[in-house]
Amino acid sequence: MNFITIVSERGGVNKFIIHARKAFLKGLDPKQNRNIPPLKYDWVIRLKEEFPHLEFVINGGFLKMEEIHDILKPENGLSGCMVGRLAMHHTWDVARLDREFYSQDHEVPDSRNREEIILEYSDYAQAIMDEEIAKHGSCSNTIMCRPIINMFVGEYKGAQFKRSLMNKSREADYKGKVKLVINDSLAWYKTQNPEALVTINGEKVIKPSWILAAQEADKLQYHEAKAQKLQEQLEKQA
Ligand SMILES: Cc1cc2nc3c(=O)[nH]c(=O)nc-3n(C[C@H](O)[C@H](O)[C@H](O)COP(=O)(O)O)c2cc1C
Repeated sequence: MNFITIVSERGGVNKFIIHARKAFLKGLDPKQNRNIPPLKYDWVIRLKEEFPHLEFVINGGFLKMEEIHDILKPENGLSGCMVGRLAMHHTWDVARLDREFYSQDHEVPDSRNREEIILEYSDYAQAIMDEEIAKHGSCSNTIMCRPIINMFVGEYKGAQFKRSLMNKSREADYKGKVKLVINDSLAWYKTQNPEALVTINGEKVIKPSWILAAQEADKLQYHEAKAQKLQEQLEKQA
């Protein structure tokens, strides 16, 4: 409370983004500080009550869209919810954020599908890489691939897409060629789960339709065989 009073009154700060945990400067490293101390969302809501003229954005542990909707209900008075790991671990959920939270305020453009987004990212990543190499002599494929590494996580062959990015990133032939790392991995994934590349609004393709169809066909075959057996038994008894 004291800190907020001082920096808002003397420093003129009027917006605070608060990671709702007590941070331990001794004993815990940054990673542990992001996970171990319990989340105290009520502290942030209380700050807004104490300082209604200031803006507060809450942060920490938001991994589901429903939780974000709940914390941003009007009675809490918060100005926003910052997400860190959601964007990193559940990349494709970010496609839903704009639509679900900003479509009332401004026109949300038609989403591009994942193939288009990844291809566009590969151009951007290569441009940054070229710049970095020109300035500093090197730039790591692994770091440049990180924003899209979890794009298909939890979906059919999504883990292999991730592995392909990671493995190619380390191969000598791909050094300095992040666009190729991404495009080759994407081309391979397209042969495995093409339907996942064309979704546009955070939809996941956990089982492609051809697998579902094969499972249905298996089920049908099983039931037909069972019916046939029953028929034979009945005929024997007759
Ligand atoms: C890989 C990673 C790097 C981060 N780097 C920074 C940083 O440089 N500065 C910072 O203030 N917070 C950093 N954070 C913390 C986030 O801004 C955020 O406060 C934290 O991840 C908690 O939000 P989350 O539970 O939504 O991830 C980082 C978090 C992660 C996971």
